[in-house]
Amino acid sequence: MGSLNTEPLLSLDVLADGAVIEVEARLDGEDAESLVVHRQGASVRAWLNVCPHAGRRLDWAPGQFLRSREGLLVCAAHGASFELEGGQCVAGPCRGDALRAVAVEVRDGRVWLAGSAPAAG
Ligand code: FES
Repeated sequence: MGSLNTEPLLSLDVLADGAVIEVEARLDGEDAESLVVHRQGASVRAWLNVCPHAGRRLDWAPGQFLRSREGLLVCAAHGASFELEGGQCVAGPCRGDALRAVAVEVRDGRVWLAGSAPAAG
């Protein structure tokens, strides 16, 4: 069985340093899932766009995320705040929980689900 994802999630060019964006990807199942992707310098992290509090999307409209002055990601539903290193909830109704991480890797200026990038030639 091959990977369902033969395309990169996105080009690094469209993800400014410090930014958070939403992309859709197929992980295991048939349906595309919404992911939150964050870039910090050369490092890119991704999580499911699902809040551990009540399972709602984190964005208030597709791809529109609230950020605190400190750079935390704030769930649009009830205000849970997440740090963007490990996806831990540091304030709000699910404090102590964490976003579900999705492994990604950067190769040739593009972001891929881990294991789905073509082998380097
Ligand atoms: S669903 Fe995110 S804070 Fe309630």
